[in-house]
Amino acid sequence: MFHRRQLLIASAAAAAAASALPALASPPIRRRALAALREARPPEAADDLAAAAQDEDFWAWVRDCYTVDTSMVNFNNGGVSPATADAQAAQLRHLAYTHEAPSHHLWRVLSPQVETVRERLARYHGVDAEEVALTRNASESLMTLLFGHDLKRGDEVLCTSHDYPRMLDTVLQRGRREGIRLVTFDPPVPLTDPDELVRMYAERITERTKLILVSHMVYLTGQVFPVTAITALGRERGIPVIVDGAHAIFHMDFRLAELDVDYYGASLHKWLCGPLGTGLLYVRRERIPSVWSLQASSETLDDDIRKFEQVGTRPEDGRLALTESLDLHEAIGGARKLARLCYLRDRWTTRLTEHPRVSLNTNLAPGLAGSIVNLALEGAEPHELQAYLWSEHRIYTISIGFEGCSGLRVSPHVYTTVGEVDRFSEAVERFLELG
Ligand SMILES: Cc1ncc(COP(=O)(O)O)c(C=O)c1O
Repeated sequence: MFHRRQLLIASAAAAAAASALPALASPPIRRRALAALREARPPEAADDLAAAAQDEDFWAWVRDCYTVDTSMVNFNNGGVSPATADAQAAQLRHLAYTHEAPSHHLWRVLSPQVETVRERLARYHGVDAEEVALTRNASESLMTLLFGHDLKRGDEVLCTSHDYPRMLDTVLQRGRREGIRLVTFDPPVPLTDPDELVRMYAERITERTKLILVSHMVYLTGQVFPVTAITALGRERGIPVIVDGAHAIFHMDFRLAELDVDYYGASLHKWLCGPLGTGLLYVRRERIPSVWSLQASSETLDDDIRKFEQVGTRPEDGRLALTESLDLHEAIGGARKLARLCYLRDRWTTRLTEHPRVSLNTNLAPGLAGSIVNLALEGAEPHELQAYLWSEHRIYTISIGFEGCSGLRVSPHVYTTVGEVDRFSEAVERFLELG
């Protein structure tokens, strides 16, 4: 006879297993969601896009493709985004298969499949697969580029104070070790005239400037910088321009081919919703031989993009499961995704900027921003608002205490609901009422 106590133990074990594997919950629902998304063809015209951004049935299907913690509202997707549910499930499959016979399954079967992912990413971006390396994150991609260029004592690397601290630290470490100089300047906040920013870079170029680093989307404000024009400026002056695309890729709707840059480093675990620990490095083909790899590689790989992936034994579950993240991104479509992100953003920014104490450190003009916005409140510290939102409303955001653009950084994603956006607006209004 099956006792009640046994039943309790069995159901506790089942519950524990279910909570350990939320990614695997109800796969048929996700399959239906993806099928429904694929059937809904990407809208072409601008007004169709506006309508598509508000098609709540469609976005409910999208939400089903994630494993969302509904006990909170996660508005810090800029930090790191969730991998799609299918990507999580694929990772588990790849990892389990690996461990059945690692030296065979990993090196003989799975590693070669990375080429398919490389080709798919390259095809999406209209570039050659031989120009795309799959790295572990933006840090690895950008350090490859920042360390990989030969520089000598007194040479300068030009960038803004709004570049990512780890990238600035990379140059500062080269300073301590080799005497390389970091030259930074403060960009306008919010950015109103992209041409003015290009002039600001141009004015600071000297004969010692040997590299330029520029963020495509600034981590502090979400502001989009004119990287095509800055790359053109660098080419005119013979200076390589390294673009930090950690936040922009698969967020703003562009293809690397149109962007016409030479070096681009990005994370894929942010706006693509790829597995944790995935990144992309684009190097224009003719530039590959002149960049050293971060970890040593054989001379035979000198002009091969794969030299940037020589990191020793590594699991392949993450790189391979990028396929599932790309499936969802392509089913949504880049233009529709950006339209939705801007729709959600405009919904809360329009409402809150009606309040006299609210301003934005981000210019939301088309093409200059996506989902990430830096919100400033007169008479309140951003960390106070962050703490209030979390403790009183379980809304998770991040405060930015940076001189010149101090504020609350807010970054919803495609799985965010309109209701969550309105809860956020209401909570900020309540905070303002407190004084
Ligand atoms: C602008 C920018 N660059 C680079 C990075 C580093 O990204 P990762 O931690 O994925 O390497 C970040 C991380 O948030 C970032 O915001």
